[in-house]
Amino acid sequence: MAVLINGTELAKKVKAEVRLGAEAMVEALGEEARPDMTLIVFEGDPVSRSLVAMKARDCEAAGIVPTVVELPDETTEEELFALIERLNADEKVTAILCQLPVPPHVSTKKLLNLISPEKDVDGFSARLDGDITDLAACTPAGVIRMLDEYGIEVAGKHCVVVGRSNIVGKPMAAQLLMRDATVTVCHSKTRDLASFTRQADVLIVAAGHAGLITADMVKDGAAVIDVGMNYVEGRLAGDVDFEGVSQKAAFISPVPGGVGPMTRAYLLKNALRLSAEKHGMGGTAVGSRPNE
Ligand code: GUN
Repeated sequence: MAVLINGTELAKKVKAEVRLGAEAMVEALGEEARPDMTLIVFEGDPVSRSLVAMKARDCEAAGIVPTVVELPDETTEEELFALIERLNADEKVTAILCQLPVPPHVSTKKLLNLISPEKDVDGFSARLDGDITDLAACTPAGVIRMLDEYGIEVAGKHCVVVGRSNIVGKPMAAQLLMRDATVTVCHSKTRDLASFTRQADVLIVAAGHAGLITADMVKDGAAVIDVGMNYVEGRLAGDVDFEGVSQKAAFISPVPGGVGPMTRAYLLKNALRLSAEKHGMGGTAVGSRPNE
């Protein structure tokens, strides 16, 4: 039976680290240095609104000041981009997030390119030629912390990532490569997916397909991280058949209670990090690095 990777408990620890870091910033530099986050959301999408409300509550609990900007769905691309440019230029604004998806008349690619990398709290602009000390996208950063915390080594191991999205699969593969893993990325067009997943020492699944990974697709003793968030009959479910796979794997993260809370915790970690860098306290002083 696999060891359960408890993302809920680990996220509490990460949030406590952020809170301590935020208070250390304030103690050293005054209340103006308190980390902040501006969260933009289109008001017609109830799921996005509730996610942003949760993120804002997370900020408050961690000593970060949230500002939520709700935009009517009719907001034009030009108006949104003008807002982003204003926030980029505003010295008081340290961290910016625009909740995705945005309405179809807004280009996601242009939007994400416009948010200044110094303020990109999602870490979506993390560069492929970066290294492990750079700010990383929240989900991959959270997954790496889960692996570290449970003593799961990736260097020299075969890590298989299922999913190639810009916000999870690709940056996840990059993070693993930076840590000397051998990485295979599979996706919806991969032929004979099981032949790859069975080779994985560490299997990270971010396909958005409930029950995609069954026990017969997993090597004995593998570590399996489930990034899937699917709603099946109104309930949250991952991409991995938890019951079956947990009989075979050595480690498994559940859904809910696995990667999800860690993504949210690493958003806070990134906000602290951006704030620390802005105030010349980047790095270890406030524990703001992704994997501290
Ligand atoms: N929509 C779903 N997940 C995310 C995320 O991590 N960041 C943003 N900005 N939008 C999202």
